[in-house]
Amino acid sequence: MRLKGKSALITGSARGIGRAFAEAYTREGAVVAIGDINLEAAEKTASQIGGGAYAVKLDVTNLASIESAVGAVEKKTGGLDILINNAALFDLAPIVEISKASYDKLFSVNVAGTLFMLQAAARSMIARGKGGRIINIASQAGRRGEPLVAVYCATKAAVISLTQSAGLDLIKHRINVNGIAPGVVDSDMWDEVDALFAKYENRPKGEKKRLVGEGVPYGRMGKPEDLTGMAVFLASDDAEYIVAQTYNVDGGQWMS
Ligand SMILES: NC(=O)c1ccc[n+]([C@@H]2O[C@H](COP(=O)([O-])OP(=O)(O)OC[C@H]3O[C@@H](n4cnc5c(N)ncnc54)[C@H](O)[C@@H]3O)[C@@H](O)[C@H]2O)c1
Repeated sequence: MRLKGKSALITGSARGIGRAFAEAYTREGAVVAIGDINLEAAEKTASQIGGGAYAVKLDVTNLASIESAVGAVEKKTGGLDILINNAALFDLAPIVEISKASYDKLFSVNVAGTLFMLQAAARSMIARGKGGRIINIASQAGRRGEPLVAVYCATKAAVISLTQSAGLDLIKHRINVNGIAPGVVDSDMWDEVDALFAKYENRPKGEKKRLVGEGVPYGRMGKPEDLTGMAVFLASDDAEYIVAQTYNVDGGQWMS
């Protein structure tokens, strides 16, 4: 067990990739807080995972909610060792149709949510004096723009940049901040993405998903479980000397 006795908080982990992280961390011996805006789903996921998993109500766009979630983790486990900033929203529209409301929503969850969650976790870790690990979930979308995906791509580029700055600032406290950039991952989110592409590219439902899967050098879309090895590694003692990096885990889609 590589994370035995560690206390982890994973944002947006009631479903999808975050849930797979929570399952893997629990298997590795961590006590995992399933932090999600959907408390009912988080409670269900926590009880299905079992082990040390427990649900925490968390809205990453709300500073009071962030404080209270970190406080709940401290109270339950004595202190936070690992944060995964995983919660995010997706949207899609041609440049001339992007709404301010969509822009604000995505930047609020994906960028401000990542920064202020990271800040609260870092404050807690610094006060405890035992260092820690913070893993930000970016995307291949943060490596380059896409015609219909301007806002989401920009938020994920910001996540990669924040990972660099926070990584450089926090390593003096022995807090390692790194990121993971998934490619295309078969999750509920991608079903929503597929429906949006169907609308804007005038395709039958399911076609975009099939095409992107075929375009992955590995030969298929990713599964949430494909990302867990890197998430466990970055939280483990083996990653002690890794600082401010974002790793592509995408079946060969992007090289950087
Ligand atoms: N699915 C993909 O193809 C893909 C590809 C690259 C990167 N990613 C990234 O991986 C991460 C997880 O993606 P997913 O596909 O599992 O997403 P998902 O939509 O399936 O899950 C997101 C979770 O976040 C929660 N959430 C939403 N807003 C929140 C808020 N304000 N506060 C707390 N929780 C909130 C949701 O309730 C949900 O449980 C995201 O950062 C996403 O951008 C996904």
